[in-house]
Amino acid sequence: MDPNADFIYQASKGNIDAVQEIINSADKNDLDYFQAFSEASDNGHYDIVKILLPFLDKKIIAHNRQKARTFRNRVLENIFTDYLNEQSTIPKPFNTYADASTSEPPTTLAGICTITESQFKKYHINYKKVLGKGGFGTVYLGYYYSNENLTYVAIKIQRGLRYLTPSDYHQMKYECNLLNNMGYHLNIIRILGGYVTDDNIYWIYPLMDGGDLSKYLDVKRQLPEEHCKHIFRQLVSAVYFCHQQYVVHRDIKLENILLYSQCSNTLNCTVVLSDFGLAVKVDPDGYLIDPVGTLDYMAPEIILRKPYKGQLVDIWSLGICLYELYYGKTPFHGTNDEVIEESIISLPLLFPEHIKINSDLKNLLKIMLKKDFRERANILLVKNHKWLSTS
Ligand SMILES: Nc1ncnc2c1ncn2[C@@H]1O[C@H](COP(=O)(O)OP(=O)(O)O)[C@@H](O)[C@H]1O
Ligand SMILES: [Mg+2]
Repeated sequence: MDPNADFIYQASKGNIDAVQEIINSADKNDLDYFQAFSEASDNGHYDIVKILLPFLDKKIIAHNRQKARTFRNRVLENIFTDYLNEQSTIPKPFNTYADASTSEPPTTLAGICTITESQFKKYHINYKKVLGKGGFGTVYLGYYYSNENLTYVAIKIQRGLRYLTPSDYHQMKYECNLLNNMGYHLNIIRILGGYVTDDNIYWIYPLMDGGDLSKYLDVKRQLPEEHCKHIFRQLVSAVYFCHQQYVVHRDIKLENILLYSQCSNTLNCTVVLSDFGLAVKVDPDGYLIDPVGTLDYMAPEIILRKPYKGQLVDIWSLGICLYELYYGKTPFHGTNDEVIEESIISLPLLFPEHIKINSDLKNLLKIMLKKDFRERANILLVKNHKWLSTS
């Protein structure tokens, strides 16, 4: 059966499990959410209305709320009101970047993050200048002219629609929505736009011209305590911002932390948490099960394939980053994946004896790198930790 027809039919009948299953399994592009939503609300299936709300345009939601108020039932209006209130607790975006005033080409980020072809054509890509490569794409230097001023950007190119499974495509949109809905934070990457073709997907970001922290550490080898603290404070602020909104990153590592500009001294580095490709919004009391992340930074419970708390795996990865910045290497390493896994699961956290370490910093690392996640600090404890509150 045509999945869309089935989707609308099941919504009209109030079969919540069937609706959920179609959303999870069918190609999201094939589904007419508005039609299904109309059927569900006309027939009083409010549980289904709630499920479908996040997929609808805000204008549709506002319009239907008006409709519910004027002539139909209160229940529906309350559902819309709750939903809209919930959305408005998300901080309003504000520009914290000096270069982000009026110089950017217009973008239509609301919803799915995409820009039009003519907007996209304003950007030029320098294919000779690769800024970095990740597991999902290659990032090139890009630029555009605005009033004859040249502005640089970073453009990530991923394989396009013809190569994507429906779940990849869903994840892509999800990443965009997540970032847009979270609002701006000085230490969290923004997306300026996305442009999708059959062959390629182009993501446009502000250029972080200091590169990523992993490359920075390759040059510096290890960072002095004050420098670590300055960077770490910003990361904690970013992660706190995410966790407050129940967003977990799940891939915090030095390659995904970018430097806003070259750091000429220890206290002028602005860092940005980027690559929200594995981020998800979580139920505060729930557990996640999909084993994702990057091995060196992966918490023991993920390696052991146990259900895990997203927030606490972020704390583990942050702890690994802090250790790596200070000592120049991760605490649990090895020559192959099995050795690394074994070391993460069973080796105690060791502090090289020949390098002096402040006792507060040592304590912070210990509470972030507790193998048992039930004993691990949460982001609030980290934020208020003594090491961070002293200058
Ligand atoms: N905005 C940016 N400015 C400068 N370099 C960037 C930017 N975004 C990404 N990079 C570089 O490209 C690499 C891969 O980007 P990332 O978004 O992490 O891709 P992936 O999802 O494939 O891991 C990063 O580790 C970094 O070195
Ligand atoms: Mg990455």
